[in-house]
Amino acid sequence: MSDHTGTQTSYWIETAPGVPRPALSEDITVDVAVVGGGMAGLSTAWEVARGGRSVAVLEADRLAEGVTGHTTAKLTALHSLVYQRLRRTRGEDGARLYGRSQLEAIGRAAELVDELGIDCEWETAPAFTYATDDRASELRAEAEAAREAGLPAEFVTDTDLPFPVAGAVGVADQVQFHPRKYLLALAEALERGGGQLYEHTRVVGLHEGEPCRLTTEAGHTVTARDVVVATHYPIFDRALLFARLSPRREVVLTAPIDAGRAPQGMYITPEENTRSVRTAPYRDGTRLLIVTGEHFTPGTSDTGEHLTRLADWATAHFGPLEFRHRWATQDNDSSDTVPLVGPLHAASRHTYVATGFGGWGLSGGVMAGLLLSALIDGREPPWTGLYDPRRVGTVLREAPAFLKYQAKVAQHFVGDRLAPFLEGGSVDDVAPGDGAVMRVGGHVCAVSRDDSGQLHAVSARCTHLGCLVAFNRAERAWECPCHGSRFDVDGRVLQGPATRPLEQRDV
Ligand code: FES
Repeated sequence: MSDHTGTQTSYWIETAPGVPRPALSEDITVDVAVVGGGMAGLSTAWEVARGGRSVAVLEADRLAEGVTGHTTAKLTALHSLVYQRLRRTRGEDGARLYGRSQLEAIGRAAELVDELGIDCEWETAPAFTYATDDRASELRAEAEAAREAGLPAEFVTDTDLPFPVAGAVGVADQVQFHPRKYLLALAEALERGGGQLYEHTRVVGLHEGEPCRLTTEAGHTVTARDVVVATHYPIFDRALLFARLSPRREVVLTAPIDAGRAPQGMYITPEENTRSVRTAPYRDGTRLLIVTGEHFTPGTSDTGEHLTRLADWATAHFGPLEFRHRWATQDNDSSDTVPLVGPLHAASRHTYVATGFGGWGLSGGVMAGLLLSALIDGREPPWTGLYDPRRVGTVLREAPAFLKYQAKVAQHFVGDRLAPFLEGGSVDDVAPGDGAVMRVGGHVCAVSRDDSGQLHAVSARCTHLGCLVAFNRAERAWECPCHGSRFDVDGRVLQGPATRPLEQRDV
């Protein structure tokens, strides 16, 4: 990543570092154990604790620092062009339930901000899905579908973007906020109420029963009546959900912009490999412009190229900019656009999952908290079936692009097992800052060299299901193209579904 694109830190993490929580250091018993401390996990923990249950949150890294700490932080029910698609795949009732559940989630977050007095830069703003090309009729149809789904949506041709659009779907009274200030305040309130929060506590085993038992990497056991897996990509996949999820990475850039010319709304377009725009309060009469886009499958592309393209787009559309932050984020798309929230598999009695938010994990995470806490309580909100991970039928109507992605995964499963025997390589050829997969001493190794010339070598076989990882130079990380696991140069897990590190190799 080039220096002209600012520091390699998420603005949300830089401005809300949070206090450390202990790692779990003993066996514990609670009513509900939540694996994963992001928006979905903490929202679920909050709701079940509200219902009078004891709860523990087990986070492999830091609370609210994973995907939630790298989002663009829009809390909206307008999810790009989802409503026309929902009408086709889930019918008008499905689209309405989706709209209602997402609006309810935004309302719930607003209630908590009020009730707990959370200072999280909460701003009400209109959300828009726009196009600059000839898609005006598609947007008009989306506005109608969103309106029928219960959103106050309208088709407009005027926006406060500094460039003309062919049309846009606009929805008033949506929200932009600081996701970590919100979630860390929620975590503190949860703790004050007796909730247990653990960081650097990686869960590696799940025994389903009555009660369920989780095992951590450090060897401790958490006994719980109910277990919620909210790890972004599920670390336990007993219903082959991975066949219905595709990971994608996207880059984010920020730059101060004069408050007088900062757009008030939040924007997204599917054009140019997606562009998303919002602003946040900043200093000295400026607001912070936050632009996102350039999605790609992890392990298939270098983040640096995407940042350069996004930076060029931002300066072409907003004038000269001095970039302050750059980061990348990762999302999982479900095969039918609808998140998978509910029982973990067909025979689940006390295990639940929340995943597949497709880039809309803030409203989706709050929705998941409400839905899962209701299911744990024995209640079924009207949208239970819509989000049920056990749904069948909609898979048959998957988008062609999704099927293409699954074909690529299948190619990796087969090809990655053959290719290493055909390839050679020399560690001497690996330049500082670079990395390569090669066969060394009979092992398939992922070899990288840091800026000081030091070699780092680990197994190139992803510990999830064995695909070969690829090097992302800009982020100095090994990424798996199959389901998006990511590892640092010494093999440490940065992102699941893998839970075990890549094995060290001596080269
Ligand atoms: Fe599944 Fe690597 S993430 S094989």
